[in-house]
Amino acid sequence: MCGIVCVSGSIDAALILLRGLKQLEYRGYDSAGIAVHEPDGAIRRARAAGKVAALEAAISTPFCGTSGIAHTRWATHGAPTEANAHPHRAGRVCLVHNGIIENFSPLRKELLAEGRSFSSETDTEVVAHLLDRELDLVSDPKVALLNVLSRLEGAFALAAIIEGEPDLVLGARRGAPLVAASGKGAGFLASDIMAITGEATSVIYLEEGDSVLVRPSGIEVYGLDGLPVVRHAVPAPASMAQAEKGNHRHFMQKEIYEQPEVVGRTLAAYLDAASGCIRARDGVDFRAITRLLIVGCGTASYAGQIAEYWFEALSGLPVKVDIASEFRYRNPAFLKGDAALFISQSGETADTLEALRLCKAAGVTTIALVNSPHSAMAREADIVAPTLAGPEIGVASTKAFTCQLAALAALAVLAGHQRGCLDSEAQSGHVANLLAIPSLMGAALKIDQEVDALATELANASIVLYLGRNAFFPLALEGALKLKEISYIHAEGYAAGELKHGPIALIEEDVAVVVIAPHDALFAKTRSSIQEVRARGARVIAITDNAGAAELEGEVSAILKLPDVQGMAAPIVAATAVQLLAYYVAVHKGTDVDQPRNLAKSVTVE
Ligand code: F6R
Repeated sequence: MCGIVCVSGSIDAALILLRGLKQLEYRGYDSAGIAVHEPDGAIRRARAAGKVAALEAAISTPFCGTSGIAHTRWATHGAPTEANAHPHRAGRVCLVHNGIIENFSPLRKELLAEGRSFSSETDTEVVAHLLDRELDLVSDPKVALLNVLSRLEGAFALAAIIEGEPDLVLGARRGAPLVAASGKGAGFLASDIMAITGEATSVIYLEEGDSVLVRPSGIEVYGLDGLPVVRHAVPAPASMAQAEKGNHRHFMQKEIYEQPEVVGRTLAAYLDAASGCIRARDGVDFRAITRLLIVGCGTASYAGQIAEYWFEALSGLPVKVDIASEFRYRNPAFLKGDAALFISQSGETADTLEALRLCKAAGVTTIALVNSPHSAMAREADIVAPTLAGPEIGVASTKAFTCQLAALAALAVLAGHQRGCLDSEAQSGHVANLLAIPSLMGAALKIDQEVDALATELANASIVLYLGRNAFFPLALEGALKLKEISYIHAEGYAAGELKHGPIALIEEDVAVVVIAPHDALFAKTRSSIQEVRARGARVIAITDNAGAAELEGEVSAILKLPDVQGMAAPIVAATAVQLLAYYVAVHKGTDVDQPRNLAKSVTVE
């Protein structure tokens, strides 16, 4: 949430910063701003409400400095106006910030009492004033920064420049991501290395609590205690190829289509095709675990809910799935032998990260199933289980979700085998089932044009309900989430059997019901739910397979036919259908598919 990019010592700072901001827009797009040290020694600033394109349009004369800071905002304190856009200025200081300063209100009162005045409603401006005030008292910018940080509460990352210090960018990481990098004679700071790929040659993934001074001549890092620390630089990724849309209209479409490849890559990290086994993961011993807690937010939590069915069925291991924001505040009771699995694409989601820390503090073994190998969760968990989806740019998660499912399916088989519930033959049967997923997903994507046609009509629905049973129930939740977040149509997912306990009251003629109904052991039950909603006038769209389609022909308004798929592969393959449906409805509605309103990827605030 919110993107920061800073440079010191580049020939054209503004060019680098504006380019970097575009790469960071996935983190928020309510407003954008830039501040650059100009050759005359002054700091010049430009800000605009809206996306980076609006900022570019607002810059009438080109900037010509070599160092500066920039920000793209997801609003927390204060409306998404130009006045609230970062960088915020106080005296000599210009500052950008990602996260929340929880004690900003008393700090603001303190500063007001000293005669300082504010031009925004943000918590950020308070920090700019504190730094400016501190610089009046101590001349050393590092000491001033550390003194200011000692006054702040909350989780955040920040960066600042100071008039009179044209080469210096200050930064700090306290609960939100920040990387420091160097290359081509310049130093950089950014929320995500993607912002400076192509410029940076080496990168330091800053540790929690680090403060940093970036100059063209080098990077100094200080730990939480303010003492210098050595943080090793690693080569920066060279290419941004994955962050380009290619021939696709939207990142979301590209990412849906990438799934056969990235799910295959993720599976390859877990499955040994030659032996038909799941590769053991260092430190993961499901025999030693008596209960698995699974924690995540949004789509990641739905992946966890699907995995609950798999783990319990294949390994007999009791599983409890929680939403991170609830888990961390309800004083969860732990049992001896608990292990906790945290699912996150970004590895930075504030609630999931805090839930992980809570479990660690309670002595529970923590496993992070993450897509970002350098994220806070990857660094702090006892064990890392990777997904290899590559950068996911579309705000609505697609390929990260199916990669999470692929990894979870493999772990469920591993648990079944380690706990003696699956013999080698059963294990290799599951491995073969999982190995077929990439090509089945490729085949499933062939419904693209049918979905496009169907979406024209669905785009007029007032409410869309999604129904499913067993592992397809959480997939129904995910389908509804996808639709509502990018098309703004009110959508809800329900367990098909739960429908008659209330939600059926919603059914009337302009309500559409998407039923995920594979021809499995529960097909007849799901078919009854279809009859119940149809009898009350709903338009029913069935997502099913060949056998299901043959039985539902004439009973539903439309059928999206997927290949015949068994076992854990089935919900993973069916995910493509709910993703395409949401995608095309949003395209027909003309919404901003990749950057839907009010949302941002990587939710680093509570
Ligand atoms: C929905 C979506 C979100 C994320 C959630 C968790 O399409 O993307 O619900 O799944 O914000 O994010 P991560 O996985 O980064 O922890």
